[in-house]
Formats: sequence, C-alpha cells, structure tokens
Amino acid sequence: MCGIVGCAGSGDTVSNVLTGLENLEYRGYDSAGVALRNGSGIEICKRAGEISALQGTISQRLSSGSIAIGHTRWSTHGPPTDANAHPHTDCTGEVAVVHNGIIENHADLRTALEARGHEFTSDTDTEVVPHLLEEHLAAGRDLAGALRETLSVLDGSYALVVLADGEDALYAARRGSPLLLGVDDDRTFLASDAPAFLEYTDSVVVLEDGDVATVTADGYAVTDADGAPVERAVRSLDWTPEDARKEGYDHYMLKEIHEQPDAVRRAIRGRIDESTGEPTLAFPDGAFADVDRVQLVGCGTSYHAALYGAGLLAREGVDARAILASEYAETTPTLDDRTLVVGVTQSGETADTLGALRHASQRGARTLALTNVLGSTAARECDDALFIRAGPEIGVAASKTFSSQVVTLLLLAATVARDLTGDLSADSRAAVRALTALPDQLQAVIDDTDAGVIAERYARQEAYFFIGRGLAHPVALEGALKFKEISYEHAEGFPAGELKHGPLALVTAETPVFAVFSGRSDEKTLNNVQEVQARGAPVVAVTCEGNDAVLQQADEVLTVPDTHPDLVGVLSTVQLQLISYHVSDLLDRAIDKPRNLAKSVTVE
Ligand code: G6P
Repeated sequence: MCGIVGCAGSGDTVSNVLTGLENLEYRGYDSAGVALRNGSGIEICKRAGEISALQGTISQRLSSGSIAIGHTRWSTHGPPTDANAHPHTDCTGEVAVVHNGIIENHADLRTALEARGHEFTSDTDTEVVPHLLEEHLAAGRDLAGALRETLSVLDGSYALVVLADGEDALYAARRGSPLLLGVDDDRTFLASDAPAFLEYTDSVVVLEDGDVATVTADGYAVTDADGAPVERAVRSLDWTPEDARKEGYDHYMLKEIHEQPDAVRRAIRGRIDESTGEPTLAFPDGAFADVDRVQLVGCGTSYHAALYGAGLLAREGVDARAILASEYAETTPTLDDRTLVVGVTQSGETADTLGALRHASQRGARTLALTNVLGSTAARECDDALFIRAGPEIGVAASKTFSSQVVTLLLLAATVARDLTGDLSADSRAAVRALTALPDQLQAVIDDTDAGVIAERYARQEAYFFIGRGLAHPVALEGALKFKEISYEHAEGFPAGELKHGPLALVTAETPVFAVFSGRSDEKTLNNVQEVQARGAPVVAVTCEGNDAVLQQADEVLTVPDTHPDLVGVLSTVQLQLISYHVSDLLDRAIDKPRNLAKSVTVE
C-alpha cells in the first residue's frame, strides 16, 4: 500500500525521506514523490515509476531543506501517472499533502470545490485536502485550525501529512490508516511504517485514530480532533528493519493472512447500500442487462476465485463458467458481444490470463478485469476494470488476494444478476448484507484458530486430500494448492462426490482428508466423510460453529463463525491457509518464496 515519510530536523532531510521511501519499497508502489520547504517556498518532485527515477531528477531539482515529506503511491483513484503521484498541492502551491487511505466523499467535495473556482490537477481523492486547507487558510485560520476544519468534513480513512510554506512544523492526522512518529535527538520523523526510520531511531510514538500531531526538529505535540492535548507514550522498538517490514510476523504470508480483515473491509467499502442490501459498484444501472453468459478466466488461486464466482452467478440463474486461462482458447467457448469475460488476476499481468482476455476481445466479447493492480495490463486492456483493493501481496502464495477476489466477485455477481432480472433475489441480498460482518468474522477465525495444533498433529503424512462440494469445492482446491505450494507435500483437491470415482483408491490411514462444508448439501459431504473414515483416514472438518452433525462425525474440526452460505468459504479458506502455513513452518520450508514458483508468471 502507499507509504508516507516525513522528516523535520537537522541534516539533509530530503535524503532521509528518500531513504525512508526506499525502506518502504517492500510494500509495493507505482509512483513516488517528495516535497520540501526552502527559503522561497515549496518544491515538489514526483514521478510515476520507481523511486530511482525520482532520485535522478531530485538531485538536480530540489535544494536541500530542513523539512520534507515523501510518498510512495499504490494507485486507487486514477492511474499511476506523474500528476496523480503525491504530494498534492492547492491552487497557490503553498501547501503540500501526502495521504494514505481513501476519502470516500471526495467526489462531492471536489464538485463543491470546483464550483468555488478551485482547479484540480489530478484524478486522486487526496487532492480535495490541500484545496480545503487553502480555503480555511484564506479565511484566516492557522494551519492547525485549517487542518481540523478540513478533517471534520472528510469521510473515509486517512493518514495525512501536511507541509506548508512558512511553517517549521509538519502537521499530521490519522483515522483508520497507520501513522507513527520516530523521535530522534535533533530530528523527528513521521511514517506509515516503522521501517522507514528504524535505521535512524528506534523511539516510536504510535498515533491513534482521531489524533492530530505537530512535528518539528525539536519534538512533537499530539492533540485530539478539538485541539486538546493528548499523551502518547514513546516506545522503544527492538525490531531489526527486516522484522519491522514483516511487522513482527515470521513471514510475509502470515502477515498477509492476518491482513485479511482489513483487506476485505477495503474491498467492500463504499460498495454496499446497507439499508437495501444492494451492491453499489461503480457501473451504470443496467450495465450488464444485455449479457447472455459470463465466462471467468484465471490461473492458480485466481482460477479458484473464478470458480467460486461462477458458482455464485450460477446460483442466481446466470449462465456462468470458470475456465482455466491457459485452456481457454483451446476449448473455444461460445463468444459474442453478449458474452462477458471476467479476467480474475491479482497482478493483472499473468500471460495466460491476458492471452485468454485478448482471445475473447478479438472475437467481440466484452471483457472485465478483476484485479488488484491499477494500471496493470489487464486493467488497461479490458473494457472495464474492477479493483479488489487488497494492497500489495509479497508472499508468492496468494492469501489475502483470494478473499478480496471472492468478496468482490460476490458483489459483481449480485450486480449482474440484478441487471438481468431487474431485481435482486432475497438470498443474494442477504449475502451482500452479510459481507459487512465478514471482516470481524475473519478476525475471529484468526484469533481463535486451532490450525497450529492440528498442523502439529498431521505435519508428516503420506499425502493430503481436500474435498468440498458446491462453493466448498473451489475452497478445497485452493486449500490443496496452498498446501502443495508451500509445504512441497503431495496434496490434491477434489469435488467431494467425485472421491468415490477414483481418488478413494489413494485414501489410507496416512492420508488426512480436509473436508470443507459450505452449509449447503452438507449431508452429502458427510457421506463422503464416512467413506474415507471407513478406509482409516482421519478427517479434519472445516465448518460453521453449531453444525453438530459435522462436529460429531469429524475426527478434528476447524470452526468458523456462522454466516450466509455464500461467505462460509471465505472464512474456511483462512483456516486452510493457516494449516498450510503451520505445516510448512514445521517442515522449515521457504514459505514466502517456494521453490520453482513465481509471484507473477508472464510467460504462457
Ligand atoms: C502464479 C502465482 C499464483 C497466482 C497465479 C495467478 O502462479 O504463483 O499464486 O495465483 O500466478 O496470478 P494472478 O496475478 O493472475 O492472480
């Protein structure tokens, strides 16, 4: 996600800020920028692309200053361009702002600001902030007052840092996005993550939601939203910069598994009308009314999300299929201008998926990229793009992007079904509503899981099978894929009913079977569980709390909170991710970079 760095103090603050931005590179970004205050005003240098591109021009353009801010941007509003890179300024160029998070009411604020004569130079949600500050400063407020007035009209989440002409201080505010102070003898840092400044100081102050901070070379002051002083403790971090990048987790994958509540929160934010249970994705009304069929293409984990999405669409009566992208052209599905082809791809760069989308597009189909990366090839080439907002994923084995893909596909499926039938079914409406509780339920799974204990019990077996039917089938496939990717142990996923038609020959007392229950047709899957138990295999069931029939039959259980059956699979997947993680950790595998695998595969 985006990274923020600020520095007030002695020495070359621009270099400190650039080093801080480099230390945040691991988070992923597509553009970067720096602003500093010198004797004659604010200087800004910002570029799409790598920080190194910025460095090339900074040395020529920016003189050194004693106060500077910087930002690495992971695009959410507007493509990665020089103009959309942060910092953003007002019409006078007297304030510069960097921002992490999403200003949800930016469109309304922008319309009002433009009507009052403000000229915008970017597509970002952030740019409303400097223009609002400009108005309050012009009305005679000091910067702290102008910031408070501005914050009072912002909806959404932010970590904001403001640099202003004539000010020796940086002003910062936090709501819903992390922001820290790094306190050193003769300089003070601001950053979205501690690695930005850990090589200079390990004294950290964590700002809390609602805090407004003023930062100078000599120290800092924190107030609440009304300007009343608040105390925030200085802590000493004993992390190495590498530990800090993983925020104390042993692996990026574990960190990313733990990020799922926030990732899903972002994926659904502003996309649900809670009063009606309707999805509010940014497509015109009736955008999918002329769609006869939907084909979802993807590879690996994204293919499993596509299968899940196809299941959701099919249940709403939509003719939907998931097809492995590498098989798409060969299987020549029906394609015309009433076919919607959804490319499910975290990176937006997977060659097989791009190949399938181009094949479909050349034959007149309508294409939609469901991706995590703004400005990616899939997002640019498709007729439409829908972003899953998971934030950068560093572990090669996908985790948080799967859950973000599935919830976004659920919203898309409800939108398509509504456009085709003119209304949303009560069941679909209930599923959309249930999404709002999902982030907290994901957190409960992470907090209460027994995956570590079960992993110890079954870490060294001959093979592992994963079964499920309906929406639990893609979850079983994903469970097996994750397991084999990072543990290097033999793992296979099957539709539960298919087991008896062949794979059952492989089942022994040394092959644990993970049985995933979606809450639909569970009794049939229970029959399959008994079939494998009769051959001596231990069964680990993944099911909702209170599913007594399953709880009694299984040898072990991993439970998830009760929810709509369309969402059970998202919660179950987290349990299976954790099983794979813990088994692989016990086997001492290279979890973040499994052998032979790459995060983004750009060859067919
Ligand atoms: C590679 C990765 C997988 C990923 C797949 C599709 O194989 O190792 O984790 O699921 O590509 O990637 P995409 O970026 O298209 O989702």
